[in-house]
Amino acid sequence: MEIKVIQNELSKIDCDVIVAGLFEQPELNGSAAELNNALDGIISKYVIEKDKFEAKFGQTYILQTYDKIAASKVLLVGLGKEEELDIAKLRELGAKIAKKCDSTLKAKTVCLTPYGKGIEGISLYDATKAIVHGILIGAYKFDRYLGEKTSSIEVFEIAENNNPQEAENGAKTGQIIGEAVNIARDLINEPASVVTPEYLAETALQIEGLETKVMDEDEVGEMGMDAFLAVSYGSAEEPKFIHMKYTPDGTPKKKIAIIGKGLTFDSGGLDLKPPKSMRNMKTDMSGAAAVIGIMSKIRELKPNVEVHALIAATENMPGCAAYKPGDIIRALNGKTIEVDNTDAEGRLTLADAIAYAAKLDVDEIIDIATLTGACIVALGEEAAGIMGNNQELIDNLIKAGEKGAERFWQLPLYPEHATAIKSPVADIKNTGSTTGGGAMTAAAFLKEFTDNKNWAHIDIAGPAYLEKEMRGTPKGASGFTVASLIEYLIAQ
Ligand code: BES
Ligand code: ZN
Ligand code: ZN
Repeated sequence: MEIKVIQNELSKIDCDVIVAGLFEQPELNGSAAELNNALDGIISKYVIEKDKFEAKFGQTYILQTYDKIAASKVLLVGLGKEEELDIAKLRELGAKIAKKCDSTLKAKTVCLTPYGKGIEGISLYDATKAIVHGILIGAYKFDRYLGEKTSSIEVFEIAENNNPQEAENGAKTGQIIGEAVNIARDLINEPASVVTPEYLAETALQIEGLETKVMDEDEVGEMGMDAFLAVSYGSAEEPKFIHMKYTPDGTPKKKIAIIGKGLTFDSGGLDLKPPKSMRNMKTDMSGAAAVIGIMSKIRELKPNVEVHALIAATENMPGCAAYKPGDIIRALNGKTIEVDNTDAEGRLTLADAIAYAAKLDVDEIIDIATLTGACIVALGEEAAGIMGNNQELIDNLIKAGEKGAERFWQLPLYPEHATAIKSPVADIKNTGSTTGGGAMTAAAFLKEFTDNKNWAHIDIAGPAYLEKEMRGTPKGASGFTVASLIEYLIAQ
């Protein structure tokens, strides 16, 4: 899809659908007033007065234009209450508009004015960025295996006459973010037979402008990442450790490591999952997909930070060489781990990736993982859990989440969580022995490998894959954390 910022009178814009936003208890101003005039007052007289269009958030109304203006149809969209409009709602509206224009109206060319500008605290840049980000999310389809494909929007125009440059900048960043999110969604939606550790490695190697190295099984063994390797033993797929590095042009303000859990399939291993729980476990590489999405676009975003992106990619399978409950393994940092449950495999792969990051002389380590079912019990699909050892880092990521229209909710790390992973035969074990609190005992486990470096852990088990539409993101892979981590990186 092409996105462009244009300057023109609304009545003269030739497109299939022109979109105008209206606040609740509609008082016509801005683009809606301009269109109303050009349409001889149809909007005020018929849509609002007679049809009682209330402009509640997300409500729509479609009008034919009968050649009174250049556009074929007008899509009126309710913006809800002015004081309630925020970045997340702007993104959601962008997504809903794209979906409506695409699936219902079968439009090829759409034009809208950046609604929401001028509202307290939201700049034209922010509004345009959020809307365009939403448009890309809403127009996304995973249809490469469908015989019959539906048509798609080809051009989306943003009409802005007063400050086209600011709109242009917002649209550009919004488009990059949306594309990064969709790269992640594609990787997650692909079946595990396609997206193997090898496939993730090849995808990483194809990203231009990064220094990328991929370590194979032997090299991972030589490094001493035996916790990661143990998880891979039951699988016919070779594990791959992926390290991508982005270096900014000037002196970097910071060095940041981002780590994505890269289980291309999690059967549970010998502690096999029941069918229902295994069904979507191709998505257990959503953290890795997020990292690849971000790194695919980082050269266009040019943040002033050095970024090391790490993925320990493997499957967790119950093959005859599989690691077993009761095994004791040694991680890269020398700590020994008793395997209490082979389905708590993500933390074993992350343990080595975090220990590897801690040796890289980075200022911050952020890991993103579909780590625990317990986090879904705690927060549902509506938010990711965030934990860590540095409150400032956690606060800044939560703030970046507000810009990226994603919710991160902090969960506590108490000394009891560290006690819960004590083992009688090894330094720690890979499950907690407390009743409940599984998201926190998993984080307490990861903390053991941070070497006290600033670290935040984001558990995306809930929002990574949606069972139903949420705030504009349709059912399926969401690409969660891509947008917010990009916001975090460019804010540095
Ligand atoms: N990949 C799962 C967590 C998960 C569950 C992600 C549902 C997305 C949706 C993880 O590897 C796992 O199986 N965790 C276990 C840990 C337990 C054995 C301590 C869990 O959460 O049940
Ligand atoms: Zn598991
Ligand atoms: Zn898993």
